Order: sequence, then structure tokens, then C-alpha cells
Amino acid sequence: MSIRKPLLAGNWKMYKNTGEAVELVEGLKKNLGGVTDREILVCTPFTALYAVGRALKGSNIKLGAQNLFWEPKGAYTGEIAPGMLVDTGCSYAIIGHSERRQYFGENDGSVNKKMKAAFSAGLTPIVCVGETLQEREQNVTFKVIERQVNTGIEGLDEEQAKKLVIAYEPVWAIGTGKTATPQQAEEVHAYIRKLYLKLYGNAASDAVRILYGGSVKPDNTSELMKEPNIDGGLVGGASLEVDSFTKIVKYKV
Ligand code: PGA
Repeated sequence: MSIRKPLLAGNWKMYKNTGEAVELVEGLKKNLGGVTDREILVCTPFTALYAVGRALKGSNIKLGAQNLFWEPKGAYTGEIAPGMLVDTGCSYAIIGHSERRQYFGENDGSVNKKMKAAFSAGLTPIVCVGETLQEREQNVTFKVIERQVNTGIEGLDEEQAKKLVIAYEPVWAIGTGKTATPQQAEEVHAYIRKLYLKLYGNAASDAVRILYGGSVKPDNTSELMKEPNIDGGLVGGASLEVDSFTKIVKYKV
């Protein structure tokens, strides 16, 4: 079991219009109001942020975005600045999700810029890393993770390094129903923490939270959360319904 405060984060991807989004968080608020030993987060589409931010005011559920641009303002048609996200009530932003790397050309360089821009605006970044099926089969998982961490996550100061959240999401486990076994996940989480220790030292590597993502469901959360280096979950599909996300947040240890 982790010694850090667990973070259960929903990544809604491109689902839910405003009305549906507010309905979902109203249900979550009702079910999760008493939870204080875990941090709860929903990362909604941009278009729902403002309305969901208002609905969540004063609750124990935090708001996050799924992406941002690294410039604070300017002529960047179609992009969203970190400060605009803070303005809607966000305190977190997911950076470098594998779908963004795969379909929208993001790489360790853009991830690094976005992570630093998020911190500058006062957001806590959740930086995603993870190998593809092909990379796992070629036995280069650790090499890929090492590159993603050392290039994508370098250059933070000590306070930022303690605050950062990393999500390990094996690409082959996302949306496939194929969860990594707790042992497979723990092995990579421990490796990420070791890399982090080299980058930022003891205090930061003890503090950084490393979430697991990839087909997290109500019935596999507890066993994943038993591992010492798994500090929470980044949940896609199962975060889209009140019941399943409630069960995930309320996993038993
Ligand atoms: P999933 O997605 O839970 O639907 O596998 C996880 C993610 O992509 O963050």
C-alpha cells in the first residue's frame, strides 16, 4: 500500500456535453461527499470545464483539463492557455496522454514544455508515460520509460518535483479491458521512482505520486492499490458513470 495520499482521477476524454457532465458530477458529489483520505479528480472536455467547475465549488472533487498549450497567450488559433484553465476552476492538467502522442504528434519535448507551463500557471501536471504493445514485446519497455521520464520530466525545481503526478499507462491496456497485472504495473512504477530519485533526490521521489492507468475498473482497483508504488489511478471508460467511478474511489485496502 502506498504511503502517499491516493489520487483517483477520471479522464473523460471526448465524452459528455455540458448537461451530461454536470449530471455526472452531481451524482459523484452525492456519493463521495464524505471521502477525505483520498483525492478525487475529474478531467472533463474543455467545453464542460466552466459548468463543472461551478458545480464542484466547495466540494471535495477537483477539476482538471486533458491538455493545454504552453504559451500564456497569443495568436494560436484553437489552443487553450494554462491560465484559462485556472480561470475555469482547474487545479490539474493531464499532459502527454498516449492518445495525444499517437494522434496529435506530441512528444517528450512538447510534454516537457507543457509540464513547465502548467506549473507556471499554478496547475499540477499529470504527465503520462507508457510503452506500446510492440515495445513491450520487443523488451524495450524500460528503455522507453527511461527516455520518457528523463527527457519529458526533466528541469523541475524541488517543490515542483514533489508536487508532480506521473501516470504510467501501458498503451496496450488503454480501453482494451486488458489491465496490467499488479506485478507488471508495480515493476514499472518502482522503476519510474528510481529514475526520479536520480533526477530529483530522495524527498521528491518519496513524494511524487505515480498513478496506474489502463482498464482500471471497480473489480481490479483494490489489488492494484495494494502495491507500494501505485499511488492511484487514471481512469478512462469506468469514470464515465457515477456507479463505477464511485466504486473505484471507494476501493477497499
Ligand atoms: P481506460 O483509459 O481506463 O478506458 O483504459 C485510461 C486512460 O486512457 O487514461
